[in-house]
Amino acid sequence: MRSYLKDKMGSIELPPAGFFEHVAFAPLDAIFELTKDYNADTSEHKVNLGQGTYKDGNGEPWVLPAVQGAKEKIRDANHEYLPILGLPSFRHLATKLVLGDSGPAVTEQRVASCQTLSGTGALHLAGLVLYEALGPSCTVYITEPTWSNHRQVFEAIGFYVQSYRYYDEATGKLDVASLEQTFEAAAPGSIFVMHACAHNPSGCDPTQEQWRRLATIAKSRKLFPLFDAAYLGITSGDYDADAFAIRHFVNEAGLEAAICTSFAKNMGLYGERVGLVNFITQTSAAATAVESKLAQLTRVEISNPPAFGARIVAAVLGDAELCAEWFRNLSTMSGRIAEMRQQLYDALVRLKAPGDWERIIQQKGMFCILGLPLDRVLQLKSKRLELSPSPWISILILFT
Ligand SMILES: Cc1ncc(COP(=O)(O)O)c(C=O)c1O
Repeated sequence: MRSYLKDKMGSIELPPAGFFEHVAFAPLDAIFELTKDYNADTSEHKVNLGQGTYKDGNGEPWVLPAVQGAKEKIRDANHEYLPILGLPSFRHLATKLVLGDSGPAVTEQRVASCQTLSGTGALHLAGLVLYEALGPSCTVYITEPTWSNHRQVFEAIGFYVQSYRYYDEATGKLDVASLEQTFEAAAPGSIFVMHACAHNPSGCDPTQEQWRRLATIAKSRKLFPLFDAAYLGITSGDYDADAFAIRHFVNEAGLEAAICTSFAKNMGLYGERVGLVNFITQTSAAATAVESKLAQLTRVEISNPPAFGARIVAAVLGDAELCAEWFRNLSTMSGRIAEMRQQLYDALVRLKAPGDWERIIQQKGMFCILGLPLDRVLQLKSKRLELSPSPWISILILFT
């Protein structure tokens, strides 16, 4: 967009017509547009295969029992402003949840933390700090494919964003050779945005052994890992297992890193916008300085973050019973997702739909790349499932 402001002395080159007539219409967000179409669709059998939000067996949003319990606990909370960096108990408990209780970064106080507007806000804030700390010339590497917002979050800050092949379309698996080669070839100081688990959209993650190898390369090449942690706990049902990559890079390999955590999916707090950014630094003094930057940037942008969601998360994490309930809720969600994958796979195999559907049960988390050609996807979007009495048969019709 062309700027018409010329200098601070008030000399302005005025636009030819109204102040905004030169503003070009920005493309609409594909995922939110799909949800809009879904909401407008009157079919009884509609299924939203776009936005990653968990639904129960009746296709309804699920308010987690742990969250219900937490809401009871905080119902008398006041409505005052939070501190700029967010709710202290939330920051403390969530940081320990992500990094583990006894990791060296936590015990040596080398972790900066700031409450954010969910995972997206965490990514943006992390990017702003990195742009200042590492300089505008460093490259941000994102996977191809990736979550549709990654590129624009980092480009909007001013970074050059480079994507690299992550997923092998032919096998439906992770292209680990490409991943390692890109790590090896990247310039020192490059930022690698990595999905901590349940890669969106491929559902393919490195194995623990592959993560270890990537951490070794990142360390020797002086790369900067930025973990996008939107699916911790909801991937396998075991929070610690899902946090393996983060904890290995930080606690075992001793790397500096940024971690962008969201509680949207794993606590079902989509609309509350509750997230956390952590920076792990080499010294405690650096963590204090980074935290001051996070506070300054937050003050400029939102003054201080919203309280409700952070109070819920803190109430869950700070109460042994609610926390145990939450861990059970994570298993329920991840178990149901795995079961849905299995049912779809079994139906396609039983009905002899041409194609190799193994990837549906191999890929993890909320997303799956089916490998369908575009025209089939558009058909799935527009064709009414009441065409057939059985949803599985309808799906088969569309898949063949
Ligand atoms: C990979 C990934 N990162 C980050 C986010 C951000 O989510 P939110 O801002 O709702 O926490 C999402 C949401 O779908 C995601 O899939």
